[in-house]
Amino acid sequence: MISAPFSNESAAGIAHVYRGTFVHATYHTAVEILEDGLLGVDTEGKIAFIGSGKEVDRLSQKWGFEAFAVTQLGQHEFFMPGMVDTHIHASQYSYAGTALDMPLLQWLNMYTFPVEACYKDLEFARNVYTHVVKRTLRNGTTTACYFATIHTDASLLLGQIANDFGQRALVGKVCMDTNNFIPHYKETPEESEGETNRFIGELLKKKYPLVRPVVTPRFAPSCSATLLGHLGEIAQNNDLHIQSHISETKEEVSLVKELFPDYDSYTDVYHRHNLLTDKTVMAHGCHLTDGELKLFRETGASIAHCPNSNISLCSGMLDVRRVLNHKVKLGLGTDVAGGYSPSMLDAVRRTLDTSKALTIQDTQYHTLTFEEVFRLATLGGSQALSLDENTGNFEVGKDFDALRVNTDAAGGPIDLINHGEGPKVYVAGKRVVPFVERP
Ligand code: GUN
Ligand code: FE
Repeated sequence: MISAPFSNESAAGIAHVYRGTFVHATYHTAVEILEDGLLGVDTEGKIAFIGSGKEVDRLSQKWGFEAFAVTQLGQHEFFMPGMVDTHIHASQYSYAGTALDMPLLQWLNMYTFPVEACYKDLEFARNVYTHVVKRTLRNGTTTACYFATIHTDASLLLGQIANDFGQRALVGKVCMDTNNFIPHYKETPEESEGETNRFIGELLKKKYPLVRPVVTPRFAPSCSATLLGHLGEIAQNNDLHIQSHISETKEEVSLVKELFPDYDSYTDVYHRHNLLTDKTVMAHGCHLTDGELKLFRETGASIAHCPNSNISLCSGMLDVRRVLNHKVKLGLGTDVAGGYSPSMLDAVRRTLDTSKALTIQDTQYHTLTFEEVFRLATLGGSQALSLDENTGNFEVGKDFDALRVNTDAAGGPIDLINHGEGPKVYVAGKRVVPFVERP
């Protein structure tokens, strides 16, 4: 239970008050449920107080709202934090669900690079980027960490579209100066550095409240040491987020050894170019050694776990328990279009599937629980992106970044059946059998 009440005495006036069930993760607990909670949101969209519904009269006097103005949730409704997609390629949404018949390095050359090259065309970009922002929001992703393409203007457009639809977003203009297969889809190191500076400058100038730039070297095989050095410097000088890919497949790890023979490991390649910081998120990490995970822990860098992609491209199965035992921050990502689904609920399910597949291989394995994975999809993701000061759970002072879920919505995907028997599952204080999805 959330112990109540908490309040932020210095908050602005109250704009909304909600009464009902609140479900979230905390820094100490995977899932906390506040039944008959009362939550006030100030005029800046921040949580001003969290208390019990029974205290409505006292709290309405204290905060100056009318008790009749409280929005009461239905019996089968609850609020949960908006989900955080820590790794998604907005530019690959146009072919999500197709082209999953090759391993990573061939898949990039055959499908991904030719499609990404099309984002020179701003109208094409506008169409796909509008769809991906709308679709991820509809799926409950209120925060997304996006890869765009090498094209600065189209990447700026993605930032504008996320802002217009109210999605919190880290947006990355992709940087790559190595591409032997599709030579027209790359930049020189000077172009990449200059355009990254232009991208950051123009995006920051817009002062979008929820959108920030992220320095984005695609991955070590696509970047020269010179370019990696430039990007590390830009991130450091501007205190920016950084995202890339690491150790997704064994073939890629071998390639990095060949391309960067003087480095101790794949992780060392990024580390020695100042690209591992507490604002870095690296996708995948399926094949990292203990020594590399130690370096993640020491630098505060995080991992975006993308189980749909890891299975779809036959890349590997990340041992999330091992990462958590190393005390490395970890969130979940869809990795569209290596992952075929833009839904974070899918990422939750695939995370549990991978954990269970590891349990099939080793019956002593400490399988992830549903509650732990709920945490990874919300607070864990916000920590992985270093955005947990503002989002990830319901704490006074954070933005009220929430999903209102109605498990009994007409025409919805769930049949909610009240039943005397069965597993002990409670919704809004009432015992119910687990949700059954219609086929
Ligand atoms: N590694 C480098 N680029 C990519 C990409 O676009 N998708 C995935 N899954 N891995 C990558
Ligand atoms: Fe990716």
